[in-house]
Amino acid sequence: MSRKKYYITTPIYYINDVPHIGHAYTTVAADIMTRYKRLWGYDVYFLTGTDEHGQKVEKAASQQGIHPKELADTMVHRFTDLWKRLNISNTGFIRTTEERHKKAVQYIFQKVYEKGDIYLGEYEDWYCVPCESYFTEMQLDNGRGPDCLRKPDRLKEESYFFRLSDYTDRLLKFLDDNKDFIMPEIRYNEVYSFVKGGLKDLSVSRTSFSWGIKVPMNERHIVYVWFDALANYLTGVGFLGDDSQFESFWPCDMHLIGKDILRFHAVYWPCFLMSIGIEPPRHIFAHGWWTIEGQKMSKSLGNVIDPNEIASTYGVDEFRFFMFREVPFGMDGDFSKQAIIHRINSDLANDLGNLVSRSVTMINKFLKGRIERPEIRNGVDDSFESSIRQLISDYYKSMEVLSFYKALQSVFDIISIMNKYIDSEAPWRLAKEGDVRVKTVMYNLWNGLRISGLLLSPFMPEKSKRIWEVLGIKNSIEMARFEDEEVFYHRDDLSEITKISPVFPRIEG
Ligand code: ME8
Repeated sequence: MSRKKYYITTPIYYINDVPHIGHAYTTVAADIMTRYKRLWGYDVYFLTGTDEHGQKVEKAASQQGIHPKELADTMVHRFTDLWKRLNISNTGFIRTTEERHKKAVQYIFQKVYEKGDIYLGEYEDWYCVPCESYFTEMQLDNGRGPDCLRKPDRLKEESYFFRLSDYTDRLLKFLDDNKDFIMPEIRYNEVYSFVKGGLKDLSVSRTSFSWGIKVPMNERHIVYVWFDALANYLTGVGFLGDDSQFESFWPCDMHLIGKDILRFHAVYWPCFLMSIGIEPPRHIFAHGWWTIEGQKMSKSLGNVIDPNEIASTYGVDEFRFFMFREVPFGMDGDFSKQAIIHRINSDLANDLGNLVSRSVTMINKFLKGRIERPEIRNGVDDSFESSIRQLISDYYKSMEVLSFYKALQSVFDIISIMNKYIDSEAPWRLAKEGDVRVKTVMYNLWNGLRISGLLLSPFMPEKSKRIWEVLGIKNSIEMARFEDEEVFYHRDDLSEITKISPVFPRIEG
């Protein structure tokens, strides 16, 4: 029987600039989902990559006096190095300057053209280079771009157009039939009303600069950078290259993106795909925006944060955890040093870290480091177990819909139940009185920690591994599967604990 498949992507990032916390956010989110699905036994294809064409890249290269490809060849490492550093377990990486991609983009363009969905016309409007977008007079805000507030240029050029207007009804029908195509719901509603207003044909080629893929039937034109970039989701998983891989993973299960690029993904992309007869992706999740210490991140403000630095200062897993514990996924959030220090100290060092150390110390002291299957249990143990079971199932439900914040809340509820259980059951008293129930209480704590480690592992792969090590669990957490581990009483329930050292040291702010 073939394994269950899951295909997830991040945007491909522009290589004209170095990666920042926003890029790290989407990529870590995709990694969390990937690791979560692997725990359910899925064969996950996780694609990320770099967007290397377009005027923005051409400009950045010319400012440095180098060829755009040279710029891309240097900058791509800034991304791949960061993904290694952040423990990103992607299975694919695509660069839009690769031959396999160029070939596919030209093939798709040709196919859409032959279908009659692309025609030659003339385009004139306000064009913002950094946004790679045309704006109509109506969209401008006092003569400036609606989002970036920069002054666009008036541009007129011969251009190929995609008959997007022909797709209004088909796309509306598709949206009606697939209410969970765009998540969260607020983003679905935004897109829905935009489409309902009627779609206009879209310019899909440029003649004003040259860094891009040539239009197959007219070499004076290059393919619009978004038409080129979106196709990465096909080429990166084997379209026109590895048919069996492509067929087994398409349609894509999840495009993870920031809310800034929703329209390209939720409007243009499904229509391009419909035109060439390929099924649209199953879901698009658009997350919120990070600001830094209350301000928009920008080069001119000099507040762009290098994720490498955050990882060095606070730790890779602490950084990964912070981004998803601090802000509900889908909403905007603010990064501040104070906030990350607070999260590390209160959630990780105090609540979780102390619980691990206390429990393991007691297992060593009262049971000589040996965990055994409990012989007796009472009503308190039963209700402890049933609350934890409930929270595990809440965690699964939240993870399925990328509610990472809620999922983490369920884990921290488990931790808080365990902290209360220690206090109420006072294992030191049971040990002193020679009550055999001390084994039950310690087993339950150990098991609750084992489960917490497992549920946290998509977020904090290394720290979770440490938790299991400290608990004396020999099995590798990476090989663990929810189906096997779900049972409250672990199959391999004998464990020897030898050494302990703190898993989550406190950070001085
Ligand atoms: O748009 N907060 O690339 P890009 C949260 N090449 N996420 C942020 C962010 C912030 N402040 N800033 C950026 C492109 N992001 C195109 C994509 S896909 C076919 C082509 C993240 O380098 C977020 O995921 O500008 C956003 O969508 C992406 O970076 C934009 O990256």
